[in-house]
Amino acid sequence: MELPNYLKSASEKLIDGMNLSAMSNSARELSRRYMEESGEGKSLLNKDEEAAVYSLMRMPATFSAVSTALEHICQMSDFVPRTLLDAGAGTGGGSFAANEFFALDKIICLEREAAMENIGMKLMSSSEDDALREATYIRKDLVEEAIRTKDAKAEYSSDLVIASYVLNEMSMENRMEVVRFLWENTKKMLVIIEPGTPVGFSNIRRIRDFLIEKGAYVCAPCPHMETCKVTGDDWCHFTVRVQRGKLHRLLKEADVPYEDEKFSYIALSKEPIEGKDYGRIMRHPRTEKGRMELCMCTKEGIVHKTITKKDGEGYKRAKKANCGDAYLF
Ligand SMILES: C[S@@+](CC[C@H](N)C(=O)[O-])C[C@H]1O[C@@H](n2cnc3c(N)ncnc32)[C@H](O)[C@@H]1O
Repeated sequence: MELPNYLKSASEKLIDGMNLSAMSNSARELSRRYMEESGEGKSLLNKDEEAAVYSLMRMPATFSAVSTALEHICQMSDFVPRTLLDAGAGTGGGSFAANEFFALDKIICLEREAAMENIGMKLMSSSEDDALREATYIRKDLVEEAIRTKDAKAEYSSDLVIASYVLNEMSMENRMEVVRFLWENTKKMLVIIEPGTPVGFSNIRRIRDFLIEKGAYVCAPCPHMETCKVTGDDWCHFTVRVQRGKLHRLLKEADVPYEDEKFSYIALSKEPIEGKDYGRIMRHPRTEKGRMELCMCTKEGIVHKTITKKDGEGYKRAKKANCGDAYLF
């Protein structure tokens, strides 16, 4: 997957005049901070140059992860959002992705860092879509907003609420306060995306349980509303292959022209989802002559299902299926 062309060009323009070695140093320092200092509610960057480098390094991946989750959601539900709240929007990865799927009328970005807002606004002004060009950044801390607006009317109420790669930056206590706030501001669908690590998945599982108790309906990726079927050391995550441009390779000191972004997510709906009977493919399908083996999460648990040529249409579908896809029974 790649960023849309207009966004790629706008991202590259951000660093016009910036020195490559300064950018590489900044990229290295940002990676270190995100690895070592995240999860404590700390500000991780506050300069425009850093936000520009962050955007070049990470937005292709966050955009692709959100896009993949939205693709899954659209397969399960025909909901049509008009308004979007992008919580912890950064430079707009979630908004740009959502704008590719839906005809949005209004986008609100809640973001704490001025530098992220500045760069996000520049990128959004490069779009031809009114919703992006007219998107409103509101500079607020999500935790403070969650506490300030508790028991009050939801001020940012939107059809679709996205929080991508942001809740992992908070402590557990603050995270659940923010989840409650996001759910209160969701009119139709809340999508939460976290890094595809055991910790990211455990955050997602806790949020899933918490919101099901508050009346949420699971839209994706789970094909059921019961207790999560993943056990032991395993963790539910998805992978999207992201193309790397030359500059991206330089900043990430990478040789290969792509990276595999791993993410965990949950999409929760305010309305019941019309039940489709399917399994979510959890591993790369195994192929042997005339047969496929799919490891899937289903209502019955994690199952290994063998599908052979005798299954006709089902076999054709299995042959086209990838890890992460829904396999309809
Ligand atoms: C890793 S970036 C992800 C940005 C964007 N959502 C994306 O997927 O590309 C996390 C963003 O969340 C913001 N953030 C973290 N904690 C926040 C908080 N308590 N309130 C508001 N924004 C926050 C950070 O400033 C940063 O811009």
